[in-house]
Amino acid sequence: MSIKAEEISALIKQQIENYQADIEVSDVGTVIEIGDGIARAHGLDNVMSGELVEFSNGVMGLAQNLEETNVGIVILGPYTDIREGDQVKRTGRIMEVPVGEELLGRVVNPLGQPIDGKGPAETTKTRPIEAAAPGVMDRKSVDEPLQTGIKAIDALVPIGRGQRELIIGDRQTGKTTVAVDTILNQKDQDMICIYVAIGQKDSTVRATTEVFRRYGALDYTIVVSAGASEPAPLQYLAPYAGVSMGEEFMYNGKHVLVVYDDLSKQATAYRELSLLLKRPPGREAFPGDVFYLHSRLLERAAKLSDAKGGGSLTALPFVETQAGDISAYIPTNVISITDGQIFLQSDLFFSGVRPAINPGLSVSRVGGSAQIKAMRKVAGTLRLDLASYRELESFAQFGSDLDKATQAKLNRGARTVEVLKQGLHKPIVVEKQVMIIYSLVNGYLDDVAVEDITRFEAELFDYLDANHTDILAKIRETGKLAESEQMNQAIENFKQQFVVSQ
Ligand SMILES: Nc1ncnc2c1ncn2[C@@H]1O[C@H](COP(=O)(O)OP(=O)(O)OP(=O)(O)O)[C@@H](O)[C@H]1O
Ligand SMILES: [Mg+2]
Repeated sequence: MSIKAEEISALIKQQIENYQADIEVSDVGTVIEIGDGIARAHGLDNVMSGELVEFSNGVMGLAQNLEETNVGIVILGPYTDIREGDQVKRTGRIMEVPVGEELLGRVVNPLGQPIDGKGPAETTKTRPIEAAAPGVMDRKSVDEPLQTGIKAIDALVPIGRGQRELIIGDRQTGKTTVAVDTILNQKDQDMICIYVAIGQKDSTVRATTEVFRRYGALDYTIVVSAGASEPAPLQYLAPYAGVSMGEEFMYNGKHVLVVYDDLSKQATAYRELSLLLKRPPGREAFPGDVFYLHSRLLERAAKLSDAKGGGSLTALPFVETQAGDISAYIPTNVISITDGQIFLQSDLFFSGVRPAINPGLSVSRVGGSAQIKAMRKVAGTLRLDLASYRELESFAQFGSDLDKATQAKLNRGARTVEVLKQGLHKPIVVEKQVMIIYSLVNGYLDDVAVEDITRFEAELFDYLDANHTDILAKIRETGKLAESEQMNQAIENFKQQFVVSQ
């Protein structure tokens, strides 16, 4: 039998032409080790860092450490059903969360699944949880105030829309209260709020949500919660999920406030994860990239340029300190990333100065330019006055004879401290804040006893509501003070009928 060369070469040609490369070994791997919420898989050669992978029982994971022979995967869910030898598949996607208005009023976990028992949220859109921050040209300087309704903040350390302001303090110093009251004050301010609770007790989150509901703030708020009982990966992801939900609104020209309560717990969760992934520990056993953990999150806060719709995303990260130590690792990192910090101090809190803001250690680096004119005018030197009062106060304790000027300063200082106190869940509109601070800096409170000041304030507000809506409207609408004669007259008239307590 003869071999026909042409026939064979034709056959080979045909084979080559029809050859299809559909080898997919690198898209499926095998679990070689599992434990503590971390899996190692062999064979996922093409997987990308941060890519979602799916285990054979449907649980999702996040590819984190890409090593030469294996991949370290963080498991996003129960890991007790996953066994050595199980298959794990690439999905080609990075992690996304559902976004959109449908989430308003809901409590969701960091995967965007509702946990408030009110059924699924009918969202249609998703966004990746990691996204690049807006670039330099897309931004604009902060020029609109974010009114917190808290006198001590709006007057001393004002926050602007698009700013990142750190709130820092020991445990139980009223941190969460600052966040909650700020959110309550956003009613009718054209703001959307996202409260990210990280590592908090479920009962605390429940109570906070209840406060939002009671004051009508839940309608414009999304609560993202990764409770203390959730695995570390979810606590680590929660802030990114929150900011992605916020970005959806920001890129649609809206104003968003995102509160991260708190980033210390997120850093601890990330430390746990990193140690389990066998990344080298650094200072305080945190991994080397813990700065990037927070900087890439907080850089996503922005005030967008008009060409980009003019939306904004304001970030209020919280950090808990140990015994007031703001020079620890995480606090110094976050202080250097943000545009200022509000320092809450326990001894102030326990001495009854609430909110316990330390004016000497608190600053706002950009918010001043966003303050309304009237407030800037009346509160201009308040922070310095207060700091010098604190200094004088400790000096005056020696009991030496004080001259008249010093007496007057101490007098004014004591009243300033009193004016800046504020109760729980009682935000005050900016025009009324301006009026009480105007009264203070113009000496109208100097002859009012310190213990009468709170009542003076409440009654002044009632009086203005009843008789001088014109002054309030002027401040609210133009951002400027009314005629000083008119304001002085109003305050004097009020003082005449103010009854001093016995
Ligand atoms: N301005 C205030 N006036 C009166 N009570 C306040 C004020 N601010 C906070 N509190 C009370 O102080 C307690 C602690 O407040 P909060 O939970 O806000 O502190 P925290 O620093 O967030 O605490 P934690 O460290 O537990 O998270 C709460 O019971 C709260 O009601
Ligand atoms: Mg708290």
